[in-house]
Amino acid sequence: MSQLKKFWRLLPLLAVMTFMLTGCGDPTLSALKPKGPVASEQLFLMKLSLFIMVFVVIVVFAIYAYVLVRYRKRAGDNSIPKQVEGSHVLEIIWTVIPILLLLVLAVPTVSYTFKHSKNYNQDKDAVHVKVTAHQFWWQFEYPDLGIATAQELVVPKDKIIAFDLVSADVAHAFWVPSLGGKVDTNPGIHNTLYLQADEIATFQGRCTELCGASHALMNFTVTAKSQADFDAWVNKMKAPATVPATAQKGEELFKENCMSCHAVNASGPGVAPNLKGFADRDTLAGILEHTPENMALWIHNPQEQKPGNKMPAFGKEAGGKLDDGQINEIVKYLQTLK
Ligand code: CUA
Repeated sequence: MSQLKKFWRLLPLLAVMTFMLTGCGDPTLSALKPKGPVASEQLFLMKLSLFIMVFVVIVVFAIYAYVLVRYRKRAGDNSIPKQVEGSHVLEIIWTVIPILLLLVLAVPTVSYTFKHSKNYNQDKDAVHVKVTAHQFWWQFEYPDLGIATAQELVVPKDKIIAFDLVSADVAHAFWVPSLGGKVDTNPGIHNTLYLQADEIATFQGRCTELCGASHALMNFTVTAKSQADFDAWVNKMKAPATVPATAQKGEELFKENCMSCHAVNASGPGVAPNLKGFADRDTLAGILEHTPENMALWIHNPQEQKPGNKMPAFGKEAGGKLDDGQINEIVKYLQTLK
């Protein structure tokens, strides 16, 4: 089969794949479905540059096809065509048009670049969040509110969220496609970013810098709530959890085995994810469904779920010191952390 025939045969397949790939994907994880002003403006820039490029391609190919047909060599015609090298008119045309196109692209790009890099970290109306990236989880602290959480960021809708981003170990990158971004987090260097959500919804976030074995599992979420619901959440985070009698054995085991890394009050950041409000979260470790079975699985051997993370295995079969009964007691306790 000739190369050309092969190409024509593959073309429908490529077209179907293109449609499938553009159609797939999570709507809460798409820069093409913006849910805030920053993401909308960034999508506008993407569309603008795409339209300009498509316009140039169409015009150039149209001229190319026209010239190919109109000025092709005809039988018996051996004359030399008119030579146009050094034509001022042509040179001006093909210099001025690209300059104009670049200006159309440059003016909004430069203005939005400055707008989006504005630092709101001293702004009194903004909600301030300090983000610390760890292998392989995210810590979110609200310095003005005196609370901290992990993996699931909660923000009020329609408010500017001013981020101060840093890494506790290697380079990571913070990205919430529906809201805009993204920005690197580096050890010792504080980067800034602001985002805003227009909708009450939960959006997916990802780490977008290759940072180790579980880079692809370093997921987080951003939940935008109404101001009233956000305030209620903050108050709940500040209130101490009450531990029922049935979970007291688990609490003791937790204090013995887990407390040196995991804080359970919202003010302690700690070296491992803060578990205040853990029972109300939707995900476990950012990737697993929030079920008692998965909690037990995680405590038994976290390396199986997220290779390379810093939590040791606690299950006896994985070399740890807790039996299944003890792990279940801890799970019972974790479910009371509201
Ligand atoms: Cu953190 Cu990739």
